[in-house]
Amino acid sequence: MECKASLSDSIHWIGVNDRDTPRFENFWPLPHGIAYNSYLIEDEKIAVMDTVKFNKTEEFLEKIREIIGDKPIDYLVIHHMEPDHSSSITALIAEYPDCKIVGNSKTFGFLKGFYNITENLYEVKDGDVLDLGNHKLKFFLTPMVHWPETMLSYDETDKIAFTMDAFGAFGALNGGVFDDELYIDKNEDEMRRYYSNIIGKYSPMVQRALKKIADLDVRIIAATHGPVWRTEPQRVLGLYDRWSKYEAEEGVVIVYGSMYGNTAKMADCLARTLAAEGIKNVSVYDSAKTHMSYIICDMWKYKGIFLGSSAYNMQAFPAMEALMHALEHTGLKNRYVGVFGNMSWSGGGVKTIDAFVDRMKWEKVDESVESQYSPKEEQFDKLVEMGKKMAAKLKENSK
Ligand code: FEO
Repeated sequence: MECKASLSDSIHWIGVNDRDTPRFENFWPLPHGIAYNSYLIEDEKIAVMDTVKFNKTEEFLEKIREIIGDKPIDYLVIHHMEPDHSSSITALIAEYPDCKIVGNSKTFGFLKGFYNITENLYEVKDGDVLDLGNHKLKFFLTPMVHWPETMLSYDETDKIAFTMDAFGAFGALNGGVFDDELYIDKNEDEMRRYYSNIIGKYSPMVQRALKKIADLDVRIIAATHGPVWRTEPQRVLGLYDRWSKYEAEEGVVIVYGSMYGNTAKMADCLARTLAAEGIKNVSVYDSAKTHMSYIICDMWKYKGIFLGSSAYNMQAFPAMEALMHALEHTGLKNRYVGVFGNMSWSGGGVKTIDAFVDRMKWEKVDESVESQYSPKEEQFDKLVEMGKKMAAKLKENSK
């Protein structure tokens, strides 16, 4: 195969790039596409590690044929049943009917439910080893990273961890399959956008999974999305460790919902104050314009958050309501926060955000600031005070 990428003499990348699907899970924008990684182990027994999404089935099967010719596949290892990885199983089984499907007890419920597959199942439990000849795969059950059936496997011979969604990233692989073949810094934002929006909710389970594999000598991390980490596996382990502990950098995300620009003016006042106080990482978002996945991604990066809203039907601005709902779902913790907004006749925007902040147990840096009809000098003075208090908190935190 001309475009072959191999992790070792006998382990090959047989993943595909998807630049056709506009949104992951039909919601999260994919401006740079996404990769569905799969791997083939060529040993006395041949094993395929996960499949790919249905729109790339033929390309995937072609890659397998090019490597093994007319040999049979002995095992299909299913680490995760979400259809971005499982929806080519039926086609693979049709072509390789004797292939055994390796999963845990929970995997098989999904397999029957999604695809009505109930035969040729090979169940593994936590710590079990599958002997392929030279390669031996050890299994670690890691429920809820990202679904209940998720598991990892570790090839004791080449010291490769097959980690399914964990350590994955948005973004198709533009030629570079391995971390040393691309600029990781350029990809980190898309990795964090993937983590914060897809895996972030399960951060406590990520911590548990990291501990489970902490004693393994992992030389290569082979996830089902994003690059294969063969040069700096410790780097991606470190990033996931930090993100799943909700650790953050000095910086502030200001996000607002504004109908006629009054709440937007308040956001600009806060941003200017932060910059004047020496906070250089400041991102200002109009919640109606930017997809929430980018805003949540930045909130996972920075310690400070300002949330602003006009009143809208006695609640918060609709896009802010949606953002808060999503944030509550992710369970992001340990953030400093300030609240601001404008109202005309009913109020409700600031009140709604305040209630959200209480539920999140984030630390408020100051009293919320709300203006009526339009912000006046009194509210701008209060916003400057709130901005200074946020800056002071962040600097104290960075010491
Ligand atoms: Fe990439 Fe949870 O699927």
